[in-house]
Amino acid sequence: MSKDKLNYRIGLIEPSMTQGISAKAKDMCASGIDVLTFSAGEPDFDTPENIKKAAIKAIEEGFTKYTAAGGINELKDAIIAKEKRKNSLNYKRSEVCVSVGAKHSLYNICSVMLEKGDEVIIPAPYWVTYEAIVKINEATPVIVKTKEEDNFVLDKHELEKAVTKNTKMIFLNNPSNPTGATYEKENLQFIAELAEKHNIWIVSDEIYEDIVFDGYEPVSIATLSEYAKEKTLIVNGMSKSYAMTGWRIGYTCGDAEIISAMTKLQSQSTSNPTSIAQIAAVEALNGSQDSVAMMREKFEERRDYIVKALNEIDKISCVNPKGAFYVFPNVSRYYGKEYNGRKINNSMDFSMVLLEEANVAVVPGIAFGDDDFVRISYATDLDTIKRGMQALKEFLNALK
Ligand SMILES: Cc1ncc(COP(=O)(O)O)c(C=O)c1O
Repeated sequence: MSKDKLNYRIGLIEPSMTQGISAKAKDMCASGIDVLTFSAGEPDFDTPENIKKAAIKAIEEGFTKYTAAGGINELKDAIIAKEKRKNSLNYKRSEVCVSVGAKHSLYNICSVMLEKGDEVIIPAPYWVTYEAIVKINEATPVIVKTKEEDNFVLDKHELEKAVTKNTKMIFLNNPSNPTGATYEKENLQFIAELAEKHNIWIVSDEIYEDIVFDGYEPVSIATLSEYAKEKTLIVNGMSKSYAMTGWRIGYTCGDAEIISAMTKLQSQSTSNPTSIAQIAAVEALNGSQDSVAMMREKFEERRDYIVKALNEIDKISCVNPKGAFYVFPNVSRYYGKEYNGRKINNSMDFSMVLLEEANVAVVPGIAFGDDDFVRISYATDLDTIKRGMQALKEFLNALK
């Protein structure tokens, strides 16, 4: 790294690997190759009509100027009403900050809270960005592995072992990207108690809360006690529930002093999230939720198909997830084999050879902290899923 140009902090992180594979798949598509893409982290559905219309109306009415840095009151009120409706949690406007996507919310939380010496517990497999934003803020990620046989739910003894006097924060992601793992109240109770005992902040990333199956009802850890609410920062956003990834609206609910610091940071960096997108988000939260239900149903149908198809393949095991739109199959029993003379030793080799030889794009598990797995996103139509599973099967059969 050239020291005369770049600072030390940017050298602490790597570019997002999920975006890397997606970009390569896109390049292959652009050159005319029919790639079956399972690497996307976004719903394949279009943003619902009522939301688009609200944005168009906002433009026509001239709502195109700066707004308050932490979001307009109308959106804060819609978020407050949603948290009350879904989680029976009460927040004031001073406890809500709207940001440019949930990724920005998480980044700003870390920016205003972390410093050198702080440790942040991240259950693995984890969403790639958690580790990066902890590192760029010069704190230390402490990775606690979860196991396939535990459905990727955090083991309380492992968690307890990871806590030190420097533990400042724990990240929770329910339902999880990349595993789709979901937490029951009992699992969360222990985490809340541990947080109370050791004075640890909880960052609860609930962005997949609407994409849940088999009747699972997500519980926010903030609902477990008054103390849990005080120490939890809920992070959520429009991207996944409302197919609004490009609109960039996320939010944080929690401690007023932290929210105020995040708002101050935004006022000196991004300023407000896009005015038009904020109006669209108000409609998303307050308007009809029919499209959310429709998308959830489609995802469940695809989940049912893909989990069955994967488990029918020899030497692949795949946990049946109750949330998000990803499956995380264990492909490690194929390591050591070759395809056309190309050896597969890890999840990166697996994903690269699969993409280049069979035109199927998945994300290597190493990007999420576990090399035995790959992440397959089923945010794509059932026909592509069927063709993809067939191509995967043929690819695996051809491994020697
Ligand atoms: C677990 C998790 N949290 C947060 C985000 C960020 O979402 P947004 O588009 O709101 O920045 C993602 C997006 O992939 C995610 O998977």
